Amino acid sequence: MKLFFTRDKWRGYRESLEETLGFVPTMGALHNGHLKLVHQAKKEMGKVVVSIFVNPKQFNKAEDLINYPKTLENDLRILKAVGVDAVFLPITSEVYPKNDTYESALPGTNALGLEGDFRPGHFEGVVNVVDRLFHWMKPDTAYFGQKDLQQCMVIKEFASVKYPNLNIVTVATERENTGLAMSSRNMRLSEKGREKASAIYEVLSRLKDFPQEIQWGINYLATKDIQTEYLEPLEIELHTEAGLMNRAWVFAGYLENIRLIDNIIYYR
Ligand code: PAJ
Repeated sequence: MKLFFTRDKWRGYRESLEETLGFVPTMGALHNGHLKLVHQAKKEMGKVVVSIFVNPKQFNKAEDLINYPKTLENDLRILKAVGVDAVFLPITSEVYPKNDTYESALPGTNALGLEGDFRPGHFEGVVNVVDRLFHWMKPDTAYFGQKDLQQCMVIKEFASVKYPNLNIVTVATERENTGLAMSSRNMRLSEKGREKASAIYEVLSRLKDFPQEIQWGINYLATKDIQTEYLEPLEIELHTEAGLMNRAWVFAGYLENIRLIDNIIYYR
């Protein structure tokens, strides 16, 4: 597995590649959700590169950035074990140089509402870094998790304009046996908290069939010490490996001071 710390070194390798290139951007603290993206990329593409960069611009709360788990040694061990070809590990000044002239794309209308309301500046930061990464990595296909549904929509929207030849694939959410969506943030939950957090998927699954039960859902989550920030139906248009999806229920809330998001997507 090759490690690249600079764009320059990466460019040389990229130019030498004859195979198709799949790209999985991450912020590290890898778990089986990330690996699902990697496995799909490996199945579909000749070579796979993963980036690990904790992007300071997308954290709207300083403490969230400080508390973000960093497990680089373990991440590299896992990526090597699953047969990733290359890892891009830039330092912050490589991504955002001092005399920065890169004209980064801005998020479109998909960034309005939901995360866009509750995390001001978040999608600006995400698009800023993902645009740079697409520009430098030059993948044929990039992989994103449906766990971050709005992020998928925001990235598809800007990429369809700036990178019309880039294929964006979204991958279904990997869950614990309890239904809890895997997330790097789950590491910060207590064992009891992880149990309680399974109520989120329970509620989403119920709302899919009984949409009138939102208030029940919010109350039920409160009995598990989960404070709901939003719990809403959403109309979407997302092509997935399971076919076209046109509906979703999306959730964001807090448990043990940790912000959790999840969703359920389906066709009706
Ligand atoms: P990060 O949170 O590290 O997630 C990297 C990718 O893994 C994202 O596409 C995310 O949706 C996906 N992912 C996370 N949990 C998942 C799960 N349980 N099942 C399936 N996929 C999952 O998302 C980011 O990083 C950043 O915003 C990034 C795109 C790297 C830009 O900085």
